[in-house]
Amino acid sequence: MAKERIISPAAQKRDDVPAPGGGGGGGAAIRPRTMDEFIGQRDLVEKLIIALFAARQRGEPMEHVLLHGPPGLGKTTLAHVIAEEMGTRLYVTSGPALSKGADLVGTLTKMQPHDVLFIDEIHRLPAAVEEFIYPAMEDFKIDFTLDAGMHAKVITYHLKPFTLIGATTRAGLLTGALRSRFGIAHNLRFYDEPDLLEILRRAAARLALDAIGSDALSAIARRSRGTPRIAIRLLRRVRDFGQIRAAGRIDAGVIDDALALEGVDDRGLDDFDRMYLRAMADVYAGGPVGLEAIAATIGQDAGTLEDVVEPFLLQIGFIARTRQGRQLTSVGAGHLGAAIAAGEDAPPRLFAGE
Ligand SMILES: Nc1ncnc2c1ncn2[C@@H]1O[C@H](COP(=O)(O)OP(=O)(O)O)[C@@H](O)[C@H]1O
Ligand SMILES: [Mg+2]
Repeated sequence: MAKERIISPAAQKRDDVPAPGGGGGGGAAIRPRTMDEFIGQRDLVEKLIIALFAARQRGEPMEHVLLHGPPGLGKTTLAHVIAEEMGTRLYVTSGPALSKGADLVGTLTKMQPHDVLFIDEIHRLPAAVEEFIYPAMEDFKIDFTLDAGMHAKVITYHLKPFTLIGATTRAGLLTGALRSRFGIAHNLRFYDEPDLLEILRRAAARLALDAIGSDALSAIARRSRGTPRIAIRLLRRVRDFGQIRAAGRIDAGVIDDALALEGVDDRGLDDFDRMYLRAMADVYAGGPVGLEAIAATIGQDAGTLEDVVEPFLLQIGFIARTRQGRQLTSVGAGHLGAAIAAGEDAPPRLFAGE
């Protein structure tokens, strides 16, 4: 995903399209299209609705918006929703896809009034591009140099007023200068169970899974790590499992079996999470230990652990961050002990001979 360059407004499907040949999906996308369909994150939604309506009333573009938070919480979705609500087009790119300001000129000059430019992973925007977009954000203009050497000329080009939406999993890596140019900046939080249940209900309806009961959906919601993307992914796995192994039936037992096969335990933790916790417990006696040390022990990238594994473990109090490093809490240790006793911490094994 990160590799694509600016893409056309039409080509924005991704993980929402039901698997080809999967049937039942009717081709309907699961991603919410409007603010009404977007569940949860109520304070953010309220802020966005006010800003959207005010902008529309004044005939102005929506303010620039910065969304940060762990993967799968709806940042990309919200960018689509905002463009939809403004009745404009969304152009999608990402920090790593842009190496110089010129990479953005084509899109910026093509954009119509109030169109939305979405830059994913904006913390990975090179400094040169960042400086290039400051005047675009502030005054809707860009400067570019024509020719080189003696004949070099700086041309200022006026853009149509547009909205920039930036998304990042690491707000801390953004420069203050960039951050301050967004009118709205918001941290997305993990979803609670009722919100996840509602998201799952709608997804089940769109996947034509009418037979699935509330209890079954709640069981999935509880194990989704507060994350809509995970909830929807587990729902699809459960659907497949029910279809192939349980004659289309989906009840609590089928969900347990399906999620066990995925390595997802009763708190929603997967092998990756348990590997992290186990390294902490076994190698570092529960900590405190630096993130880099854990990453080296389990052979993973520290950034990935910080983005994907730690936020939820911190949220449920399994680990704590202290000045000396990460610390396994007694709750976390208790869960890990139970998981080991239940044989849930199977692959990938850290220590040979176990
Ligand atoms: N609030 C929400 N309501 C309904 N579905 C959501 C919501 N947030 C996310 N989703 C679903 O979860 C998936 C992941 O969301 P996405 O916007 O891609 O997350 P992010 O960009 O933050 O990683 C999407 O496919 C979307 O359908
Ligand atoms: Mg995204």
